[in-house]
Amino acid sequence: MTTPSRPSPAGPGTEQVTAPPPGCPAHDPSGFGAGGLRRLFGPEADQDLSGVYEELRAEHGAVAPALLHNDVRVWAVLGHSENLHMVRTPSLYTRDSRQWSAVRDGTAGADHPLAPVFTWQPMCSFAEGAEHQRLRGAVTGAMAGLDHRGIRRHINRYSNKILNGVCETGRADLVGQFAEHLPMMVMLHILGMPEEYSERMVQAARDMIQGTTTAIASNEFVMEALTRLVARRRAQPEEDFASALIAQPEQLTDDEVAAHLRLVLIAAYEATANLIANVLRVVLTDPRFRARLSGGQMTVPEAVEQSLWDEPPFSAMVGYFAKQDTQLGGRRIKAGDGLLLGIAPGNVDPVVRPDLAANMQGNRSHLAFSGGPHECPGQDIGRAIADTGVDALLMRLPDVELAIDERELRWRSSIMSRHLVELPVYFGKRPPQDITATPRSHTPPPPRPWEVSSPLPQAFEPPPAPVPTDAAAPAATPTAPPDPGPAAVAPARRKGAWRRLLEWWRGH
Ligand code: HEM
Repeated sequence: MTTPSRPSPAGPGTEQVTAPPPGCPAHDPSGFGAGGLRRLFGPEADQDLSGVYEELRAEHGAVAPALLHNDVRVWAVLGHSENLHMVRTPSLYTRDSRQWSAVRDGTAGADHPLAPVFTWQPMCSFAEGAEHQRLRGAVTGAMAGLDHRGIRRHINRYSNKILNGVCETGRADLVGQFAEHLPMMVMLHILGMPEEYSERMVQAARDMIQGTTTAIASNEFVMEALTRLVARRRAQPEEDFASALIAQPEQLTDDEVAAHLRLVLIAAYEATANLIANVLRVVLTDPRFRARLSGGQMTVPEAVEQSLWDEPPFSAMVGYFAKQDTQLGGRRIKAGDGLLLGIAPGNVDPVVRPDLAANMQGNRSHLAFSGGPHECPGQDIGRAIADTGVDALLMRLPDVELAIDERELRWRSSIMSRHLVELPVYFGKRPPQDITATPRSHTPPPPRPWEVSSPLPQAFEPPPAPVPTDAAAPAATPTAPPDPGPAAVAPARRKGAWRRLLEWWRGH
C-alpha cells in the first residue's frame, strides 16, 4: 500500500501532480491519487464513500480538496452551512460548467466518466442570471398549474395498480417492481404521456443513469418520445405539464421544452425511486423505526423527511464553479475551481447534527433539495409520490417483511447517488383491489398533520377486498381503462364499517 502524502491546504488549483498516473485507482488502492489527495471514486470510495467524506472532514474541515475520476481536482464541500452559502451565493458560484477550469483545459473532457452530468446543456440546471430565470420561470409556471390533490389521487391509484400486480404472489422486489415504477407512472401522467410507455421508459432511464452501453440509444428513445409529445401538444394543447410548459409566457422553443421535460422526467424518476426504496428499507430493517411509524409517534411524511436527512436521494452533485477568487470554509478558492455540492456529508455535519441517532422530526433544513436559485422546484411532487406510495404500500401489505438477510442487500453507488439494487420481500397473498373505483384521496387539509396509517396491528388487518369482476390488470399490463383525470373523479363511496374503524384508528 502506498503511503499517502498529505495534501497541501492550498487545494485543487495549486497542487503539484505526482505519481501514480491520473485516474488509475488500481495503481493506488489506498484511495489516494495525484498530490496525495483522497479519491471520491475507486475501490475505497465504492465501498464506503461516506467514510471517505468523514476522513476528509477530519483532515481538512468543512471544505476539503479531493479528486474526481481521472484525478480531476475538486473541492468537496462537507459543511452544512458552507454548502448553503455556496448554493445561495450566485454572485460567487455558478452551475455553468463551461466556467470550470478542468473543462476549459480539457482535463474533464467529453470522455470523462462524469461528463453526462456536468457537460453544459441549454437547460435551467446549467443556466444562471436572466437566462436561468427565463427557463426556470417556465418550469415553475407550468408546475404551478398542476392540481396537487388530483396528483395524490393518481399516485394512490398507480400504487394500488402496481400492488395488484404482485399481491397474489406473496413476494415482490420493492425496488424493481415498486420504487422504480411508481415515479415513472406518475411523471408520465403529469407530463401527458400514455401509461404504456412506463415499462420502456423505466428501462431507458435506468440505462441513462447507469451509463450502460445502451445509454445513448436509450437517451435517443426518450428524446424522440418527448419531441413527438411536444409537437402534438404544440398543435393541440391538453391539460398536462407539456402543454402548460409550451404555453408559458417565456415562450420556450420546442427543443427547450423537450430538454426540460427530459430533465423533469429523469430527475424525478431517479431521486424519487431512491427515496421510496430508502424509506422502505428502513421500515423493513429497523424495528424501532417501524414501531414508531405504526405506534403513531411518526407519520409517513416524517419518515420520508428523516430519510431525506439520513440518505438523501442525490448524495452529491458535480457541481458548482467559482466565478472569482474567494474563500469558503477557510479555504482559498480560485476562480474556475470546481466544487462538489456535498448533500450527504452536509446532512451529517456534526455542527448541525451532533447526535446522528436523534430524529429530525419537524426539521426540514436538510440539503436533499439543495437551496438557492437552483433549489429543486419539484420537491413537493417528489415528497407526494414518496409519502403516498409508501403509505399505500404499507396499507395494502401491513405484514410485509424482508425476504433476505439485511446484510445481503446490495447498492449501486456513484458520487451522485446510492441506489438500492433489490429489496426482496414477502407478505400474505391477497386478491387485487378494485382500482377503477374512486381512489382514496390521501391529501390532508394543509394545516393538519398527516395521519398514521401503516402498518396496522395484525388484529386490525383489513379483510381482503372483494375481487371485482373486472379485476384490475397487473402493473405492467397497459390495459387499464382510460384515466378519468382529476376533473372527472366520481363521488366518494359510502363509508363501510371497516373504513370508519380505520379512520377512527388513524385519528380522524
Ligand atoms: C425526492 C425527489 C427529488 C429530489 C431529492 C430532488 C433533488 C434535486 C436536487 C438536489 C437538485 C439540484 C439543485 C442544484 O442544482 O443546486 C434538483 C434540481 C431540479 N429538480 Fe429535483 N429532486 C426531486 C424530485 C424532483 C421532481 C419530482 C421534479 C419535477 C417534477 C424535479 C425537478 C427538478 C428540476 C427542474 C431541477 C433543476 C432546477 C434548477 O436548476 O433551477 N425534481 N432536484
